[in-house]
Amino acid sequence: MIFKQALLSLSLAISTATAYHLAVVDQNTKTVRVFPRDAATWNKDAIYWSFTADPDVGWFEHDDWADLDDVKIRKTADLAGHESADLDDVVWEATPGDNPHSLERIPHLGAFVASSSDPGKLTLYVPTDASDVNNLSKIKKSHEYKLDMAHGVLWHSGKLWATGKDYLYKFDVVGKGKDIKLVLDGEGIPLKKIPGHKKNGHDLSASYKDPNVLLVTHTGGAFAYNIKTGVFETLMAVTKIKSLVQHSSGEYAWVRGEKNELGQYVSFSDEKDPKTVTDRRGWGDAEFYKAKIFDPDYE
Ligand SMILES: *[C@@H]1O[C@H](CO)[C@@H](O)[C@H](O)[C@H]1NC(C)=O
Repeated sequence: MIFKQALLSLSLAISTATAYHLAVVDQNTKTVRVFPRDAATWNKDAIYWSFTADPDVGWFEHDDWADLDDVKIRKTADLAGHESADLDDVVWEATPGDNPHSLERIPHLGAFVASSSDPGKLTLYVPTDASDVNNLSKIKKSHEYKLDMAHGVLWHSGKLWATGKDYLYKFDVVGKGKDIKLVLDGEGIPLKKIPGHKKNGHDLSASYKDPNVLLVTHTGGAFAYNIKTGVFETLMAVTKIKSLVQHSSGEYAWVRGEKNELGQYVSFSDEKDPKTVTDRRGWGDAEFYKAKIFDPDYE
């Protein structure tokens, strides 16, 4: 899977505590669609905002946007007034190569970090002018850091977190402008083993319920990692959890790969029993990879 990733900034009008929206990445339609979680059916009429990555490429050309993998909601630029966006609305892009899986923006410093899984690296993009970090045309690639099977990358509690093979990693982002560097903080944190399964780290999300919890998925399951205690709690001992999020109400929402490793539904469950599906949304020929809460609050 090779693709480009872009950060999009979306304006919000979300008020009540439980009526949240989810941004869903569908590889089949090459879209990111934002749906109200509670819409009875996730059909065309329910779409709140959408991004379509469908370039006009000939059969002989390489399509960098072939497999959309992730979406994060960050305040980067203003798309106010648009209900749908396409490649013409992309304000910054990069092609890190080696099968990129996720992208994060470092607040205030203007840097981006992309994770690539094969064989595995983080690519750092930094502002060439430290006094003008908001001008996206001045943000350029600076370093690559080897990280075996890097998948999830997330800014949380003042650190950059990343999942890879067997480990969760924590980095400090130091310096300014061209001098920005990632510095590993401590050793890799061993992911929790599920007997009979590998531990290839996958998705990484912040719990919107508990600021001390990172939601981590790997080959064999989904976990809540407490950044204060350093303890992993197993939420689901099942394979192919492509993404997992938790809303401030406590509700979990996740995508599990079914047909061809991809998901046709976003499943929901109660906080007290993450194993039991209480509700789901989607459609039969969807190819969901990740579903993220539509909320830019991540610092
Ligand atoms: C951003 O940087 C580019 C390249 O240096 C420059 O041409 C452009 O005017 C800048 N934009 C703003 C809004 O400052």
